[in-house]
Amino acid sequence: MISAPRGTRDILPAESWKWAYIVKTASETMKDFGFSEIHLPIFEHTELFSRGVGETTDIVEKEMYTFNDRGGRSITLRPEATAGVMRCALENNLCVQGASAKLWNWGPMFRHERPQKGRYRQFYQIDAEYLGVPGAMADVEVISLSLELFRRLGLKNLEAVINSVGCEKCRPLYRKKLVEYFSAHKDELCETCLDRLGRNPLRILDCKKESCSHVADGAPDIYDSLCDECREHFAEVRAGLERLGFSYRLSKRLVRGLDYYTKTAYEILSGDLGAQNAVAGGGRYDNLSSAIGGGKVPGVGFACGVDRVMIVMEEQGCSFGVAPEITAYAVALDDASRPAVQVLTYDLRKAGIPAECDASGRSFKAQMKSAGVCRFACIIGSEELSAGTVSVKDMKAGTQENIPVSSAAEYIKARL
Ligand code: HAM
Repeated sequence: MISAPRGTRDILPAESWKWAYIVKTASETMKDFGFSEIHLPIFEHTELFSRGVGETTDIVEKEMYTFNDRGGRSITLRPEATAGVMRCALENNLCVQGASAKLWNWGPMFRHERPQKGRYRQFYQIDAEYLGVPGAMADVEVISLSLELFRRLGLKNLEAVINSVGCEKCRPLYRKKLVEYFSAHKDELCETCLDRLGRNPLRILDCKKESCSHVADGAPDIYDSLCDECREHFAEVRAGLERLGFSYRLSKRLVRGLDYYTKTAYEILSGDLGAQNAVAGGGRYDNLSSAIGGGKVPGVGFACGVDRVMIVMEEQGCSFGVAPEITAYAVALDDASRPAVQVLTYDLRKAGIPAECDASGRSFKAQMKSAGVCRFACIIGSEELSAGTVSVKDMKAGTQENIPVSSAAEYIKARL
């Protein structure tokens, strides 16, 4: 027997309708915030991610599913959506001459990580990107959108954590300060962080290992290095969030695992997940566009992990709306009635009533057992067949009536 690859999961019927509920809620929330849905390729040229997400990130260095296609081109299964959205906007001229675009998408992403609770190799993101607007109001739009989505889904016990990671003007100075500081604490850093020291020292701030974390606590504060523009931008984002009534925690150690961020970086954490506690992450990326060969298109966005949202909603007993169910079950009393039962079932379905009938020749008793979990049983036997009627049993009202088969849909609808 061939099993599914490690880190992937099948989403079965018992769960799939709940996923649909999350996506539907996202779709409605996106619409209310003026975001339009797009569909993007699941694979892109590898260069898009190595240049966009960053050569020295864990994603690009260790986690991408990269292969040569039959034409010898290096292709990568998308590890995230932002670079693809920016590529799409540039290629389709969505942001020319200062135009802005609010775009959202959802679907599978692929990262070769060590699987654990809330971490998969194929996982799903709902992603929103606001392109073309450099000001802090756009950041507030995006952060409030993500928080509103979670409010509508009924998630509790969440914490928004925000930071500014500076820009190309002020970050080099901060980077230098960090290298100096961490170099003086080399013997307390883990192997990975020693490696990061020369290549991506900001990532050391994010290390979960106790000794690194302890050193990082004493690291220079990024707020002391921000340029005026970044400082002002950050103050405006914070003021905007406060105006909308959101509370958040500032964390100078939130740096995120993707290199394209400038200015705002944020995450939404859940108290009900284990180590993988971020249900969403995002921020501003004003240089991503030029990194992948486009003109200057600023952007800000977020992505939420649907798998993790699902875990939290289950654990918190959140509502997923109404589970799909069959309203009417058509039952054949004898074999001669089976064709009429199938016709009735199809008529009910055409009228928008979820209906089912037996297709494997099961006994009347077995059919009635299936009908027992539905609201209506619509029984046809030889008498009904010759009279052109159906006997409709309403399980909730405890009634049974013989009615013309042509009015069955109307009869049922009137009672729902
Ligand atoms: P990210 O933080 O890498 O950001 O991922 C966003 C969210 O996707 C995480 O908070 C988490 O909920 C979920 N996620 C990530 N990796 C996994 C995994 N292996 N298994 C399950 N869930 C996972 C980005 O991807 C950026 N593109 C977000 C963004 C959009 N920034 C700006 N715009």
